[in-house]
Amino acid sequence: MSSGTVAMCDPVGMRALVIYESLTGTTRSAARRIAEQLVEAGWEATACSTKQVDLAALQRADVVVVGTWVDGLILVGQRPGGRGRLGSLPLLGGKPTYGFVTFAVHPGKTLDKLTTTLESRGGDVKGAMTIRRDRLEEGTAEFVDRLVAVTEPA
Ligand SMILES: Cc1cc2nc3c(=O)[nH]c(=O)nc-3n(C[C@H](O)[C@H](O)[C@H](O)COP(=O)(O)O)c2cc1C
Repeated sequence: MSSGTVAMCDPVGMRALVIYESLTGTTRSAARRIAEQLVEAGWEATACSTKQVDLAALQRADVVVVGTWVDGLILVGQRPGGRGRLGSLPLLGGKPTYGFVTFAVHPGKTLDKLTTTLESRGGDVKGAMTIRRDRLEEGTAEFVDRLVAVTEPA
């Protein structure tokens, strides 16, 4: 029997859920950009607020991204904004999780604190990044580049 050819399906992209906590809209914009750029990279992506997490999308997600803003006294006392909602996120079930925070001047140790919170919700935190609010375009593009690079096989 002659050897045939195998029809390959298109590789299935990863599925991401981007959850954001936002007071004045900056982190929501960043989350939307990240989801849009992941879709452009061939992923499936959904963005939703911490106030209304899409549980079906969370269950389907291969990767969870959680973003919030830096709350503090500008140069001291920084911490993740909306800690109450972040601390009561649905359980992340050991999924690979990536955090980001938007900030104005100085994020302090907010990323470490966000990481601790996400781990307490069962996220397997693989990385986190700060994004300056006046450089959202560059910051979100870098976040997506890094995420795609570490997540997809070479
Ligand atoms: C009450 C309050 C406290 C803030 N504290 C800090 C801070 O300590 N350091 C900082 O760099 N930015 C600080 N910011 C700026 C926000 O982190 C920044 O504008 C962020 O992008 C806002 O995101 P949002 O629009 O999604 O709420 C603060 C903003 C507010 C409203």
